[in-house]
Amino acid sequence: MKIPAAIDNLTKETSSTHNTEVLPHLHHAAHINAAVRLLRIGQVVSFPTETVYGLGGDARSTVALKRIFQLKGRPTDHPLIVHLADAAQLNEWARDIPAAAWKLAERFWPGPLTLILKKAAGVLPLVTGGQDSIGLRVPAHPLALELLRAFDGGLAAPSANRFGCVSPTCPEHVRDEFADKLPLVLDGGCCRVGVESTILSLVANEPVLLRPGSVSITALADVLGCHPRTQNTSSGGIRAPGLLSSHYATRTPLQIINGPGLWLQIDHFHSQGVRVAVMILDLSILEMSHKHRSHIITMPSSPQAYARGLYRVMRDLDCGKYDLLLVEAPPQTEEWSAINNRLQRAATKETTTGDIQYDSTQFSDSTPWHHPGRYPHR
Ligand code: TXA
Ligand code: MG
Repeated sequence: MKIPAAIDNLTKETSSTHNTEVLPHLHHAAHINAAVRLLRIGQVVSFPTETVYGLGGDARSTVALKRIFQLKGRPTDHPLIVHLADAAQLNEWARDIPAAAWKLAERFWPGPLTLILKKAAGVLPLVTGGQDSIGLRVPAHPLALELLRAFDGGLAAPSANRFGCVSPTCPEHVRDEFADKLPLVLDGGCCRVGVESTILSLVANEPVLLRPGSVSITALADVLGCHPRTQNTSSGGIRAPGLLSSHYATRTPLQIINGPGLWLQIDHFHSQGVRVAVMILDLSILEMSHKHRSHIITMPSSPQAYARGLYRVMRDLDCGKYDLLLVEAPPQTEEWSAINNRLQRAATKETTTGDIQYDSTQFSDSTPWHHPGRYPHR
């Protein structure tokens, strides 16, 4: 297959504005070669992983790393995950690797688990946000692995969204987000997992879960022989944007409500002229009148399927047609923990009692919507 002319030209230019090509869902060597050629000259390309799409650049290139931060609008003291083709490369990026890391890698890689380890000498400070630790993972998407093998190095890749916004799970999301600023999006279809990787830190004496994901605490404990401590606030000096209390956010305010209180809340908001969209688990809890007056999305009842569709639904509903997104609270069980975590960070205000305070200033046209300044109470 012929490489599109636009891509061929891109490898020769250095400008940061391009006509983005979304290459079709074909595992063809030409697409990988085009991506590798761009990466080798410090360009940034988007590639699919099993969790979300990444914004990948050469982790040994300051030019590429700066471009990632610039594209994302992310502060440079926030660390990036380095993606590897194989656990055997861990020694190039980390030092004093504990036995637990090798065991976890053996069990979960390729897969949606990021390990935070002590960084090796020579790792660029832009990767680690100036910290002594580094995040590493081997992704499970075949196209990501093919790219990493062909590139033959580490790819620093945050989720391919602007800082604080919802991660992309389909190639179209990446294109919507970056328009012509990105030279290439490798199309690997929609992501199988749909929420970002589980992050586990092994730098201290005890393992610490920094971000829940589809690799569960129980699965980690099975390998570790103990349950990791959980830490899901940005306290403790770890600079991790996914740990900020508001993150993964839609521009439209989002609130989580327990099922039984939902229809009362819908009434309340309707009476104030608020245009509401509702993400619901069980349609039967809504009275017929509410079904007619609101835009209702019935979410899957399995956590895996819910996670897979969550960001797509959030993006679809965040189209300007609604003033408020109401989400029926999923069960508070371990298998829903990654979903609850992302929903809570996306929520402007939430309650487990159904007692929502409606703040009409949130919906005034004159209120600017910026991330993260829109959340002064956080
Ligand atoms: O599933 C994923 O992990 C996706 C795909 C593309 O691999 N990547 C992703 O990257 O979610 P990003 O940058 O959006 O989120 C990675 C999180 C951030 O919160 C970052 O601060 C944290 O990992 N992180 C990276 N290195 C770290 C470190 N050394 N210490 C603590 N947190 C770290
Ligand atoms: Mg992210």
